[in-house]
Amino acid sequence: MIIAVDGPAASGKGTIAKALAKHYDLPHLDTGLLYRAVAATVKRLELDPTREADAVAACDFDELTLADPVLRDDEIGKLASIVSAHPLVRAALFQRQKRFANQEGGAVLDGRDIGTVIAPAAEAKLFVRATPTIRARRRHAELQGNGSPVTFDQVLADIRARDQRDSSRTTAPLVPAPDAALLDTSFLSIEASVEKAINLVEARRRKS
Ligand code: CDP
Ligand code: CDP
Repeated sequence: MIIAVDGPAASGKGTIAKALAKHYDLPHLDTGLLYRAVAATVKRLELDPTREADAVAACDFDELTLADPVLRDDEIGKLASIVSAHPLVRAALFQRQKRFANQEGGAVLDGRDIGTVIAPAAEAKLFVRATPTIRARRRHAELQGNGSPVTFDQVLADIRARDQRDSSRTTAPLVPAPDAALLDTSFLSIEASVEKAINLVEARRRKS
């Protein structure tokens, strides 16, 4: 069984994908980390994220980069959304994600284009949402916890800018797959979000 979990920043997709992987005993891939690793490599090598050739060169990142805590930085998230708009960057990361999705026994992947591009035949697709204000509140709390001095207004502005960039790009924009189940976590606790996600996956399994 392949489970595709997509949605915007801080919607809760990562938390939900991890919980689903545990529940169904499936391997999990946070695909955002791949784009974040490209972004961190662009930064480290002082390349230009807006130049496609520079961003493509960074796709050959050192595997150790994936474990670097710097990937969680807001600045890297922003850079990731710039490099991820280049079609050749998406193409460079495509096979790796596709292989993960199609491994024997199944997998859970979360990102922006799992249900639309990476695993269009996934048995269960969730599109996780929450209002921008609530997502900014969650992300702000996380960043504050990490000692970041960033303000709520700055986080909200960044979230809106990232939504805009991710939704408006021509290649693999952030849109729900036509057959995705929508899950709004705005007013749900983590536990309630996970329970609802499991129920939605179960409903899909019964259908297929
Ligand atoms: O956790 P959060 O949603 O803040 O970010 P992320 O999932 O780590 O993704 C960072 C950026 O990578 C996003 O803003 C997207 O531009 C890009 N991304 C993408 O284009 N496609 C994916 N499958 C995953 C991430
Ligand atoms: O992966 P994504 O960026 O979509 O979000 P996440 O990392 O799963 O969640 C972002 C933050 O929101 C985390 O601190 C979660 O614990 C929190 N969260 C929440 O407060 N309520 C939910 N229903 C889901 C997530």
